[in-house]
Amino acid sequence: MTIATPAVPITRREFLYYVWGASIALFMAEMGGAFIWFALPRFKEGEFGGIITLPISDLPTPDSGPKDLPDVRIWLVNIGDARVGDNRQPNDYTVKPGVRALYKICVHLGCLYKWVPTNDRFECPCHGSKYLASGSRIDGPATRNLDSFPIEFVDDAGNVVAQSGTIGAGNSEEGGAVEIPAEAVAIRIDTGQRVEGAPNTQPGGGI
Ligand code: FES
Repeated sequence: MTIATPAVPITRREFLYYVWGASIALFMAEMGGAFIWFALPRFKEGEFGGIITLPISDLPTPDSGPKDLPDVRIWLVNIGDARVGDNRQPNDYTVKPGVRALYKICVHLGCLYKWVPTNDRFECPCHGSKYLASGSRIDGPATRNLDSFPIEFVDDAGNVVAQSGTIGAGNSEEGGAVEIPAEAVAIRIDTGQRVEGAPNTQPGGGI
């Protein structure tokens, strides 16, 4: 037969000591978690929010239809001479030839606009805003051109050989188009830095 040892009650002082210790441990765990949360990169390379790298061969040819990159919410356009001279282009907004990475979200109220090949323009199904491949708004309730992302071209050694005027320089959106340098092998798109389209409420010509 065994005799049960009576449990020794903890004192009030011990109880408060344990509560204090548990509170400190919880606080330290929360601080550690917060540190890890802020220290880790928020977006991975190759995902929306990070840097997207594509080979030059993935780019559309000048004046062809835009390339859809749905996973990273981009329309890639290559503006050629025909699009620079498009008579639908609003007068106050000049367009340069080259590649642009347009954000796929309509600048009116955030719908996904579509490329309509028969009309050679983007059209938003929600309220009818229309944009040229250059990103210029030409019709509808939107009040600015399409937003875009900074781009840069790199050579086979990883050196930047051309970049849009918006990377680090604070230049206007007009510098957003970049012609592909002969030595470029890849394009890098920074989807973490959205560049707001320029205000534009002019009616486009020839609509
Ligand atoms: S959300 Fe595109 S026109 Fe309204």
